[in-house]
Amino acid sequence: MATDQGIAGSTNRHTIGVAFVTDAASAATVRDCFGQLGIGETRVETGDIGAAIDALATGPSPTLLIADISGIDDPLSRIRTLADVCDPSTSVFVVGARNDIALYREIMRLGVSGYQFKPIVLDPLVRACRAALAGEEGEEPGPRIGKLVAIMGVRSGVGGTTVAVNAAWHLATSMGRDTMLIDLDLETGDAALQLNVQPTHTLRAALEHPDRIDDVFLDRAAIQVSPKLQLLAGLESLTDPVAADADVVMRIVANVRKRHNYNIVDVPCRAGQVFGRLASASSTIILVADPTVSSAREMLRWQEYLKSVGAPGTVRRILNKSGAPGALSDTEFLTAIGGAPCTLIALDPEIVRGADSGQPAIDRCRGLRRSLASLFVDLSGMPDIDPPGLLARIFGG
Ligand SMILES: Nc1ncnc2c1ncn2[C@@H]1O[C@H](COP(=O)(O)OP(=O)(O)O)[C@@H](O)[C@H]1O
Ligand SMILES: [Mg+2]
Repeated sequence: MATDQGIAGSTNRHTIGVAFVTDAASAATVRDCFGQLGIGETRVETGDIGAAIDALATGPSPTLLIADISGIDDPLSRIRTLADVCDPSTSVFVVGARNDIALYREIMRLGVSGYQFKPIVLDPLVRACRAALAGEEGEEPGPRIGKLVAIMGVRSGVGGTTVAVNAAWHLATSMGRDTMLIDLDLETGDAALQLNVQPTHTLRAALEHPDRIDDVFLDRAAIQVSPKLQLLAGLESLTDPVAADADVVMRIVANVRKRHNYNIVDVPCRAGQVFGRLASASSTIILVADPTVSSAREMLRWQEYLKSVGAPGTVRRILNKSGAPGALSDTEFLTAIGGAPCTLIALDPEIVRGADSGQPAIDRCRGLRRSLASLFVDLSGMPDIDPPGLLARIFGG
């Protein structure tokens, strides 16, 4: 709830609304907007999104941020950088100079609450900001800048969990991003196994008793894997499976997304309906396959499905275990999926060997790290410390 002192329950919030805009006319409109919203302490600064990034990197995040991308060459990458320095629960509204529907779509995919090109019109701005602020307390909050990534191995055993765990680990421990990993496969508990932590029964409890889902419950349920990595995972009886309801999963995701910059959900392939819902809300969707005819067919089927539901995120295809003896060659697999760009991860005995050591393979296998480097650039908007170089095993984009 917005008060003059800040947001109830939040200790590091000083200001409710902050804007960085480059021109006096926009500043005047934003001031009027803040006035009409009646939201307590607000600030309007002269500057663009770069100034917003600098300010938020060193200070607390407001509840509502308006950032100006006029004159910025690479607005999408700057918005991603902003997302990294900003509290995930902050609603971000972007203003800019371009009336461009493609740019608008790309911006909205990043979890931004709204975009207006200049001259800014007061009434729609007030309405959009009010809606974003109202979402603060709802069960299904409005867009949040905390990134959602849905990962699914198109068949069991192809390496979906391996990709999810290694991506989450690298983002959190090497790139320092606040990350939540959710493993929805409660029958295998593989993510907990790969991270060498003890699964709990609380994810099951959350799925079966959605009325219990709130910040405190999920905070307690999450396993602290490393300072910046939390895991929601379980290992349940094989004879008493948990049915994950898509509505309940979305409720859990909406909650954790308010509090973590990166939210990675590993979905077992049998939970197709849940994956569909998650994919529709994700900025990045990752389909993992192994080099077999049936995996290629499933990957094609999932791509078609994602297209048919209009999932707005970037779909990344990963061919894992490339080079496995007796399997399809890379070229055969790529032909089978219609020549679409695909990231390759080699079959590597090191990945299996240390799979339960608690030190995910990405710290030991340079090949895996190189393969996933472009994913990290996409997700964080920043080059990885160890760029892929010429050896990157990426076909296409
Ligand atoms: N590139 C790889 N090379 C060798 N083994 C791998 C590779 N990727 C995954 N594995 C192994 O394959 C098995 C299944 O992987 P997992 O990630 O659990 O699959 P999924 O979640 O899709 O069922 C695990 O033992 C894992 O260590
Ligand atoms: Mg799995």
